[in-house]
Amino acid sequence: MNESYRAFFGLVKEPFGTELSIKEILETPDLKGVKDRFDYAVRLGAVALVTGEVGSGKSTALRYAASHLHPSAYCVFHITATSGSIIELYRQLLGELGTDTASFSKAVLLKRIRREIVEMVCGKKIHVVLVIDEASLLRMEVLAEIHTLCQFEQDSKPWLPLIMAGQANLVDKLMYRSSLPLASRIVARSHLEGVNRQDMEVYLKHHLAIAGVKTPFFDETAITAIHQGAGGLFRKANHLARGALIAAAHDQSLTVSADHVRLAATEIF
Ligand SMILES: Nc1ncnc2c1ncn2[C@@H]1O[C@H](COP(=O)(O)OP(=O)(O)O)[C@@H](O)[C@H]1O
Ligand SMILES: [Mg+2]
Repeated sequence: MNESYRAFFGLVKEPFGTELSIKEILETPDLKGVKDRFDYAVRLGAVALVTGEVGSGKSTALRYAASHLHPSAYCVFHITATSGSIIELYRQLLGELGTDTASFSKAVLLKRIRREIVEMVCGKKIHVVLVIDEASLLRMEVLAEIHTLCQFEQDSKPWLPLIMAGQANLVDKLMYRSSLPLASRIVARSHLEGVNRQDMEVYLKHHLAIAGVKTPFFDETAITAIHQGAGGLFRKANHLARGALIAAAHDQSLTVSADHVRLAATEIF
C-alpha cells in the first residue's frame, strides 16, 4: 500500500500498528478490569476468562496483565489455542517449557508437564501461570480435560492458575456438562465490548501520538465514522483510520474527514 502518506503526515512510524510495546498500550478502564481479574485468579490458583469480539483488545489486555507480574517471581506460559487434540495442546505447552515433545502418549506428556511445573513451583519457587489465547477454538473434549493440567493439590491449594481468552462462544462451550470441572474453577470474568465514541477518540489520538503526531488530523466527522464503522472495536478502527489517512494523503488533505473513512471502508470487511 502507498507508503508516502507517512511522509505526507510526518509520521515517524507506521500508525495504528499491532506491535505495541507494553508502554504504548493505552490504559483503558477495561484493561485495568482484566488485569485485576487476572491477578485475582493468579493469587487463588484458579481460572479467569476474558471474552470479547475479534479485535476488542483481549490479547493486548492479557499481555498488559502478564507484564505486571514480577519476572523474577512469575513465569507466564502463553499458548495460542488451536482446534487440535489435547495432545497438541500438551505438546505446545511442553514446547514452551523447553522440553522435548517427541511422540509420547498423552499420559506421558501430562506427566512431563506436571514434573516441569512442580520443579518450577517447588524447586525454584517460581509462580507459574498458564495463559491460553483463542481458547474459543478449543474442542469440547479438550475443555473437558484441561483441568487435569491445573490440579497439583498440595496444602489443599491448586498451583496452576489458568487465564483463557476467546470469543463469546467460549462461555457457551463451558456451560456443557463435560466442561464442568474446568468451569467450576472460574473465579473471574471480563467481557470486552466495543468502546463508545469518546473513548474511540482517545484511542485514535493515542495511536497518532505513538506515531509522533501532536495535533490529530481526524475531524469530528471522521472520528464518528471510524467509531461507527468499527463498531467500537480497536482492530477494525486501526484499519479504517490508517486507510483514511492514505485516502486523505491521496487528496493532499491534511484534515481527514468522514469521506476519507468511507473510502477506506470500501476496502475493509
Ligand atoms: N489497550 C490498547 N492500547 C492500544 N492499542 C490497543 C489496545 N487494545 C487493543 N489495541 C489495538 O487493537 C488491536 C487489536 O487488539 P487485540 O488485543 O489483538 O484484540 P483481540 O485479541 O481481542 O482480537 C491491537 O493490535 C492494537 O493495535
Ligand atoms: Mg487476540
